[in-house]
Parts: sequence; structure tokens; C-alpha cells
Amino acid sequence: MPDPGFRKISYGGDWNPEQWDCGVWHEDIRLFREAGIDLLSINIFAWTRLQPDEATFDFAQLDEIVALLHGNGMQVCLGTGTAAHPAWMATRYPDILRVDAQGRKRKFGNRHNSCPSSPTYRHFAPRLAGALAQRYGQHPALALWHISNEFSGTCYCGNCEIRFREWLRAKYGSLDALNHAWNAPFWNQTVTVWDEIVAPNALTVQRDDRHTCMQGLSLDYLRFNSDNLLDSYLLEDRAIREHQPNAVITTNLMGAYRPINYRAWAPHMDVIGWDSYPGRDQPASRTAMLHGLMRGLKNGAPFLLMEQTPSQTNWQPHNALKRPGVMRLQSLQAVAHGADAVMFFQMRRSPGAGEKFHGAVIEHHGRSDTRVFREVAALGAELRQLADLTLGLRLSARAAVWFDWESWWACENSMGPSAALDYVEEVWKVYDALHAANIAVDLVGPASDLSGYRLLAAPVMYLLHPEDVTALHGFVRGGGTLLTTFLSGVADPSDRVFRGGAPGPLRDLLGLWVEEIDALDPQVHNRIVLGQALGELSGSYSCNLLFEIIRTEGAEVMATYGEDFYAGTPALTRHRPGQGQAWHLASSAEPAFLRGLLAHLCQEAGIEPTWPGLPQGVEATMRGEGEARVLFLLNHLEHEVTVPLAVPLRDLLAGVTVQGEVTLPGSGVLIARPQS
Ligand code: GLA
Ligand code: ZN
Repeated sequence: MPDPGFRKISYGGDWNPEQWDCGVWHEDIRLFREAGIDLLSINIFAWTRLQPDEATFDFAQLDEIVALLHGNGMQVCLGTGTAAHPAWMATRYPDILRVDAQGRKRKFGNRHNSCPSSPTYRHFAPRLAGALAQRYGQHPALALWHISNEFSGTCYCGNCEIRFREWLRAKYGSLDALNHAWNAPFWNQTVTVWDEIVAPNALTVQRDDRHTCMQGLSLDYLRFNSDNLLDSYLLEDRAIREHQPNAVITTNLMGAYRPINYRAWAPHMDVIGWDSYPGRDQPASRTAMLHGLMRGLKNGAPFLLMEQTPSQTNWQPHNALKRPGVMRLQSLQAVAHGADAVMFFQMRRSPGAGEKFHGAVIEHHGRSDTRVFREVAALGAELRQLADLTLGLRLSARAAVWFDWESWWACENSMGPSAALDYVEEVWKVYDALHAANIAVDLVGPASDLSGYRLLAAPVMYLLHPEDVTALHGFVRGGGTLLTTFLSGVADPSDRVFRGGAPGPLRDLLGLWVEEIDALDPQVHNRIVLGQALGELSGSYSCNLLFEIIRTEGAEVMATYGEDFYAGTPALTRHRPGQGQAWHLASSAEPAFLRGLLAHLCQEAGIEPTWPGLPQGVEATMRGEGEARVLFLLNHLEHEVTVPLAVPLRDLLAGVTVQGEVTLPGSGVLIARPQS
């Protein structure tokens, strides 16, 4: 698979010079040089400039921009510009306008606005991508392609309905199969002609954008929409490759973005790029998990941090500045988790319109003697200094957390048992427990190779494909430790519950069955009472949200509920089929419990922390192996901490060797090579 062939960690971001006078461009370039910027994403929203009407292509301005960057030794991440269609196109060909979840036909305006099924869009978007590839495909400044921008949203128009029906026909073959999969006799939803199938929105089965009365239909529409957007990505991809067969092509993903199954997209992308916008209160472990999720999409291959703000966003209710050192910390956290590029949105603040208050490398005042610019430039110098030392290096983990878009969709689509269920939150809680112990974690999912892992945590593994079941059985019987939580093994890929109830085909693996599920206001807590200590975990802990009432058939009871009519019944179980262990946690536990439990499971499985003896709030990751390995120590606290060093470290930025212990300032980062 082609890769961009970076020679160092690339550094740059979105530059939209079409928004300002070309007199300013040279000033931008001067400042880029000063900051060590070498990769610019351009042409993201410039469709009308390139194609002012149906008959005309005009590349004059883009030629100038590309030449300017090239002349200054900078590389280009070339947008295909199709993320917002031209006004003339919407006027002349209204099929390009989406229909929203309320059934309203959009008018021209905003971005990410084209219907992926629109014949107009499917004609003009690849045509533009092809014309760009013809013109710039062999340009020496071109590093990679950036198709559209943040593919997102859902359309419910008639053209989407037509394509949905085709998609369903290919999937089910017959209406009998479809009606069965959807359990359509429920509320008389049976369809007898393909054309009777309608897109599920507020006019039909959706109570809101999550909850639906026809889970099978809504789940298929989520799948279809994700596939359909991918199909429109691929139209452009193919158009580019016609002119440049070895092109490196990507788009910017958004981490845990619900509407698109990125796992299905990843094999079609040359490299994963994603946009990270942690809010001020977002725990570092949440950001770490998202980096892991993105890295996991291509089985651990390095990714690109395509966007982050150097200072603040403009779309949160309160757009806090990143405190001094935090931009550097978050950038290097991305590198620590596998990024080979660090990029910003935006390079210069827009002079007007929607993002004029969004942070930028170059602010409206245009100065370089400022905190933000200095921090950007200082990081640029460090990335230059790191050169290729971390480039391409992978992380290796013995622990994995399961993250599956289909389980996410299905468990949250369902009416009941709890509207408060948040799949990503439940996955993160388990990830956070491993992160707190500084255990390296990969995010895996359907079709992942599990053979390298000793521990697999699969929270809310609601929907199961037969292949998942086989993989889990193989994993546990081969000696792995599996942890599932409540609402696992509930439904098949059509969201039909397994006959016999949960945990369905995991029943013999877990050695239990679920009799009832209590769902309480999340403010209401029960207790998990441990029968015996598990490592340092003993006593009782709170749990909430959902409470499975479990009947064991082979599993040992490790903890019980402390309250309510099911007090004394199992809350945590362990089963030991084959050579491994299968644990099940019946409720959503407080962090202290999860941390203790996961630490215990890691210890039993012989999984060591990445770096021993770290204070809470300090994160460690390791990229690479043997002599080439690079350790990252990241202090997510605002105050300084001292970290004990089991072996001396070569500080790759300071060029000195440290031993015994090292002090990291608040938000400080050490990038080092262990000396043994
Ligand atoms: C997204 C988009 C950018 C910009 C930023 C603002 O990531 O891709 O165009 O709107 O958000 O944070
Ligand atoms: Zn549509």
C-alpha cells in the first residue's frame, strides 16, 4: 500500500489562502518557515473557484498556491475540494441537496452537504478529483490526497432510498429474508414490494436519531449510509488513481464518530488520518483511546493527526484556550500513540464567517511574537530534531479492547432497556482502567487478529457475528482472558435477539445465562461486593445503569450485588473453559472497581505496564522494538512529577542520558530511548 514517504514527522495543517488577499500568502509562508511547517492541506473548500460553472475549470489560483509551497520546500496534502458543492450546482441540479432526518429538503448552504446518492454529485465530484489528479498527480510537492472533508451525516432522499433498496436486494435476495431479519410482522411492518421500503427517519420509524421501533431496518440504514458514503469516497479515489496509480489517498476521520463504520472504510484508505479535538475536560485516557481506535483501523499502522487546534475551537459552548504546554503535550501524545504527522486546523484564522473565532497558528493579529505561535514554532523545531527516529514505528500491546460500530449502533438504537446507555462511555471506562495502570492497549473489533493478545476486554458486546463468536472461543480456549460486561451476546447481526436470551452463543464460554435486566436511573446505585480479594481489590464498590440478574451454569461467582431484591446474586463471574478464562461483569462499575479488576486480570495474564512505577496522571507509551524503541513519558498533570527510572534513558531532545529518576514539569513530555 502506498505511503506518503515522510522523512520526518510532518508538521502543518489546513491552509485556506483563497479566503484572503494573495499579498498575505507570502507572509504566511514566511511564518510557516519560522515555525518549521512543511505540510499544508489545501483546496479543501474551493470547488466554486476551481469550477465557476459547469463548463469551466480554472486552476490558476491553485497552480499559484501549489507553486508557492513547492518553491518554499513545503509539501502538499491536496484536498479534492468536494466537501461543499457550488451554489450553481445546487440551483441547477437540486438532486445534490440532502433530505434531513425530519424529511426536509435542504437548500444551498453550509458544507458536507451533498447527497452521496445524487447522480449530480456522483458525476461532478469524481470529475473534479480526476481533473486535479491529471493536473497535480505528478507534481513534486504532492505528498498525499485528502478526499472531501470529514465525511459525515445521513441523507434520506428518494435517490438514497433507491440505492438503499438495491443494497438490501444484494444483501437479502428476497423480501422474505428481509422481513424475517427485521422481524417485520411486529407492528405490521411487513413489506411485500421492494419499493415499499422507505428510509427510516422521523417521518417513519425513528423516535429520535438514536431510538427506533424497527431496529433491523435502522441498523441496515446505518450500514447502508456508511457504505454509501464510502462509495462516494471511492468514486474520487478511482478518479485520482486513473491519473496517478500510486497516489496516497486519505480523508480525515473523526475518532469515535457514530454514523460511519471506520473499520469498513479503513481497508480502502492508504493511511488513516483523523481530527482530534479534546475538550478541556476530556481525560487524557479518552484521547489515548481514540488514537488507539484510529491506529487499530489498519492493524497498528501509524496514522496522521490531520487536525487539532493550536489554541481553541469555536464550536464548543465555551472555547477554552489550551494552557501553555498543552498543545505540545497533546501533539506528542498523538505521536506517542502512533502519529507520523502533526497538523492543525487552521494555519491562519479566517477573516470572516463561521470559523473566524477558531484558533489558528497565525491569529488575526498576524504576529509571531505570541504565546501560541512560539509554542507552535518550538514544537516545529523539536519535530525537526526528532527527524525520523519515531517514524513508522509501531506500538505493541498484549491487552486489547473490543470496539465495534455495529454493537454501538444496535445497542443504542434499541428502545430499552436504558436510554442512558452510552456505548463509547462504557468502552472508555474499561480502556481507562487499563490506561491508569499504564498497560498498552490496542483497539480491536470484528475480523481483528486476536492471537497476539492475552487479555481482551469486550464491554457491551451486544451484537455478535458468527465469526466473532468463533474468534472469542478460540481466544479463550487458547489461553486468553476475556472480560465481557452487561448486554453482551444479546443479538445477531440483524439485531434479532438470540433464542435462549443473553449471552446467546457466549453462554457456554461465560458459563451463565441472564434471567432479567434491571435498568435504573443512573443516579441510583447498587453495590458490587467481592467474595474474596482480587489482588488489591476487595470490599464493595458502586455500580449503576444496568444490572443483569444472572444464573450461573459453570461460572464461579466472584462478586455479588449488595442491594435490592437481587442482593447476593452474581455481579462478577469467572469461567474457565479450555486454557483461558472468561469473566463477566453484570453492571456498570465505578472506576476504582474497574481499575482494580483490570489490574488483577493483567497481572494474572502476565501483562506488564509499559513503564513501572509511574505516578497517576503520567502516561507512558513505547514505539518500536529493541534498540530502536522510543519511550514517551507524558505528564498530564499541571504540576511537576518525578518518575523513577528502572533503566537509564537517553533523552532524544535534550541529548543527555538521565538515570535514577527524572522530573517532568507540568504538561511535560520526555521522549527517550531506554539504555538497556
Ligand atoms: C473539523 C473540520 C475543519 C474545521 C474544524 C474546526 O475538523 O474538518 O474544517 O471546521 O473542524 O474545529
Ligand atoms: Zn440522498
